[in-house]
Amino acid sequence: MSGHEPLTLCPPANIKFGLKASPEAVDFGDIYYSTDGGAEETRTVFHKACGLPERWNTNDSFTIGELGFGTGLNFLETLRLWTDSGFLNSGKTLHFVSIEKFPLDKEQLWKALKPWPGDLSLKMQLCKNWPGRVKGFHRLHFDNVTLTLIHDDVLPALSSVRGKIDAWFLDGFSPSKNPHMWSAEVMSEVVRLSKPGARLGTFTVARAVRDALETAGFTATKKAGFGRKRDRLEAVYPGDLQDLPSAPIKPVIIGGGIAGACLAKAFETRGIKSVIIDPDDDTAASGNPAAIIKPRLDLQDRPESRFFLSSYFYALARYQSLGCVMENTIIHACRDDKEKARYEKLLAQGVLPAGHFGKADNDHEYSFPEAIIIDPALAILNSTAGAKRVSGRAARAENGNVYDEAGRVLAEGSHVFWTCGYGIRSLVRFEALNLRYSRGQISFADITLNYAKTYGGYAIPFGPESLIGATHKRLDDISPFKPRREDDLENIEKFNLAFGAAPILSKRKSRSSVRVTTPSTLPLIFGDGPEWGLTGLGSRGFVFAPLLTEALAAEICGEILPVSKRLWTRFRAREKPNSETRPKRPLIKT
Ligand SMILES: Cc1cc2nc3c(=O)[nH]c(=O)nc-3n(C[C@H](O)[C@H](O)[C@H](O)COP(=O)(O)OP(=O)(O)OC[C@H]3O[C@@H](n4cnc5c(N)ncnc54)[C@H](O)[C@@H]3O)c2cc1C
Ligand SMILES: C[S@@+](CC[C@H](N)C(=O)[O-])C[C@H]1O[C@@H](n2cnc3c(N)ncnc32)[C@H](O)[C@@H]1O
Repeated sequence: MSGHEPLTLCPPANIKFGLKASPEAVDFGDIYYSTDGGAEETRTVFHKACGLPERWNTNDSFTIGELGFGTGLNFLETLRLWTDSGFLNSGKTLHFVSIEKFPLDKEQLWKALKPWPGDLSLKMQLCKNWPGRVKGFHRLHFDNVTLTLIHDDVLPALSSVRGKIDAWFLDGFSPSKNPHMWSAEVMSEVVRLSKPGARLGTFTVARAVRDALETAGFTATKKAGFGRKRDRLEAVYPGDLQDLPSAPIKPVIIGGGIAGACLAKAFETRGIKSVIIDPDDDTAASGNPAAIIKPRLDLQDRPESRFFLSSYFYALARYQSLGCVMENTIIHACRDDKEKARYEKLLAQGVLPAGHFGKADNDHEYSFPEAIIIDPALAILNSTAGAKRVSGRAARAENGNVYDEAGRVLAEGSHVFWTCGYGIRSLVRFEALNLRYSRGQISFADITLNYAKTYGGYAIPFGPESLIGATHKRLDDISPFKPRREDDLENIEKFNLAFGAAPILSKRKSRSSVRVTTPSTLPLIFGDGPEWGLTGLGSRGFVFAPLLTEALAAEICGEILPVSKRLWTRFRAREKPNSETRPKRPLIKT
C-alpha cells in the first residue's frame, strides 16, 4: 500500500437518543446539547462570548471555527442569528469551519435536528447535501453563508487549514471525558489560525483548558454560565480585528469551458462579476452533449483520494442547484475478476456511504445511485449568467489586461485566469508546465439503456439513442476536432466487449475534442499575483472544476480554503510560466 493508510469512512457516532430525544454520545458519556434550552446555550456560550452579531458589522467577511460539529445545532443557530440580524442579503459573507471526527450518518442527523424549531428548509438543505462520514473537507453553501466541514481528528484537521479565523466555538465533549480535544497542541493550532483580536467561547472552565489557552496566548475570563453550568469561559487573542480595505477584484477569465464557467460562478457567489473571453469555436472539451459525474474511488488514503470524493459531493450539489441534471444512477460493470476484487475491497473498506455505492443486480456490476449525468451546455450557461462574455482569442495578459494576437485589448481587470483547455498549447508562455494532450471522441448508437453505464468507456441514455465514449488518443497531424470513423468503431467495440452487443451507430454526428492532462494526472493551478490558471482537468473536469475553482476564488479573496493545505500545495504548479508573451504558431487546426 506504499505507506498510505487504507481510505475508510470516519468512525461512526455512537449516539443514543435519550429523554426528550436529546442526543447522547455513548462512548464519551456526554450529551451533544441539552434539549432544555440548547439554542439559548449556543447564544450565551458561543455567540455572546464572540461578540456576535455585533462584530459581523466590522468585517465584510467573517470566519468562525468550531471544534465539534456534532448535530450542527451551533451552525444552524448561527445561521439563524445571521438571518435574524439582517445579514442575509447584506453583501457580507460568513464562513463557518467545523471539525468533526465522528460525523453523524444522514439518518442520525435528521433525527437530531428534526425536533428543533429552526428553519425546516435549512435543516433539509443540510441533510440533503450531507456527505455522511466521508473523510476530509466538504463545502456547503447557504446563501452568503459557507459551511466547511473537516471530517478528521481535531489535530490533523486544524493543521490542514489554510486561512484565518475571527471567532472560535470550542465545543468538544467535557475535557475530563475527552482531553485530546483540549490539549496544548490543539490550542497552539487554534492560535496559529487566529486573526489578531480573535475571540473564543467555551462551556468549560476546566483549569487545564484555561492554562492551555493562556499558554497559547489568549486572555481567558470566567463568565456566568448557562443552565446547570455555573461558569463558562470567554477568551481574546491580542490585536485589532479591523480588516484593511482591499482593492476590488475584477476577474478576466480566458476560456468559457467548465473551468472558466465554474470560476465565474465562484466569484459571482462572492458578489464579484467576471468577464469571460472565448472564441466560441465549438472546440471546448466541455462541449459534449452529456457528461458523467461519478466519484473516483481509491483504496489508499492520500490527499488527492479525499479530494476525489469531496469534489464529487461538491459537484453533485452544484449541478443540482444549477438545474442541469439529466439522469441519475450510474452502473459500473467490472471488466475482469481483478477489477471486481478491487470493487469488493472498496465496498468492504467503506469509502462512501451506503446510499452512494453498492452492489448492483448483476454479479460484476456496482451501483452509484446518487451519481448523475449532466447537460454541460446548461451547466455552463447557468454558471455564467452573471458574467460578461467577450468573443475573442487571448494571446497574452499583462497587469490584469488581456490582449489578442493583434495587440487589441479584449478586456481589462485586476486578475487574469487562464482556463483555456487545449488553447494553452498554442502559448509559448506555458510550455514549462509540461502538459499532455489526449484526443477523445464520443459517438451515438441506436440502443436504449435504462441507466448510464461505465466499463472503462461509458454509455449514457440519450433520448432513444445512447451516447457512447470515449477514445483516448495521442494527437497527430490531423485536426483533433474532426471526428474519425475508426474512433466510432472503437467506441462500439469497447461496448461490445463489456456487454456482448454491438449497437449500430446512429445518424447523430460524433464529436471529438482534447483533454489536457499533467504528468501526475492531477489538475494544476498555476500563477500568483494578477495572473493565474487552472488546467490539467483530464477526464474528470466536470467533477473537479466546481471545487477547484471555489478553492482558487477563495485563495484570491483571502478566505479559508475548501481543500487541505497539503492538497493545495500538491495542485500548485512547481514550474512557473516563463516570461515569454509571444504566442506560438497556432497549432489548432479546425
Ligand atoms: C470525449 C471526452 C469526454 C469527456 N467526458 C467527461 C465526463 O463525462 N465527465 C467529466 O467530468 N469529464 C469529462 N471529460 C473531461 C472534461 O470534458 C474536461 O476535463 C473539461 O471539459 C475541461 O474543461 P476546461 O474548461 O478546462 O477546458 P475546455 O472545455 O476545453 O474549455 C476551454 C475553452 O477555452 C477556449 N479557449 C481556448 N483558447 C483560448 C484563448 N486563447 N482565448 C480565449 N479562449 C480560449 C476554448 O474555445 C474553450 O471554450 C471528457 C473529455 C473528453 C475529451
Ligand atoms: C458536544 S459535541 C458538539 C456539539 C455540536 N457543536 C452541536 O452543535 O451539536 C462534541 C463533538 O466533538 C466531536 N469530537 C470528539 N472528539 C473529537 C476529536 N478527537 N476530533 C474531532 N472531533 C471530536 C464529537 O464527535 C462531537 O460531535
